[in-house]
Amino acid sequence: MLSAEEKKLIQSVWAKTQEDFGGEALCRMFVSCPQTKTYFPHFDLSPGSAQVKAHGKKVMNALSTAVKNVDNLSQALSELSNLHAYNLRVDPPCFPLQLLSQSLQVVLAVHLGKDYTPEVHSAFDKFLSAVAAVLSEKYR
Ligand code: HEM
Repeated sequence: MLSAEEKKLIQSVWAKTQEDFGGEALCRMFVSCPQTKTYFPHFDLSPGSAQVKAHGKKVMNALSTAVKNVDNLSQALSELSNLHAYNLRVDPPCFPLQLLSQSLQVVLAVHLGKDYTPEVHSAFDKFLSAVAAVLSEKYR
């Protein structure tokens, strides 16, 4: 579980993020693992796509909810967890979730630079693992 100090780090760094980061993270995921594109057959995935940007904002908003409810992720992300269990029938489900987490961490490092300290990186990694665990807990 996250320590009180790690939660503080996550909250303070999250305040420096922007909605655009989500789209960038999605683009990185699509490039680093083209198979992830198969979940979005109905999307225009070309560079600069408005649909990817809009979806990235939704992802960032969901993560904002998670940051605010870090002690109660299961409940806060319950609907999203249902949705992903329905949308993403992947075996094992953690694979693309980890890819998106890694892509987002690269985006954070690129944009936040020095503010993305090793301590923040470590806290964020734990946080995103906890989010991914909730999003995949309804798979069977
Ligand atoms: C939809 C968040 C990981 C595939 C969504 C939505 C959100 C979201 C907020 C929109 C829900 C709505 O419209 O009500 C997240 C978060 C993730 C994550 C926070 C991890 C940190 C992934 C991954 C994939 C994926 C790894 C697949 C590679 C999808 C798909 C949809 C969706 C296909 C439906 C898109 C549409 O048709 O509009 N996700 N997601 N998600 N997500 Fe995720």
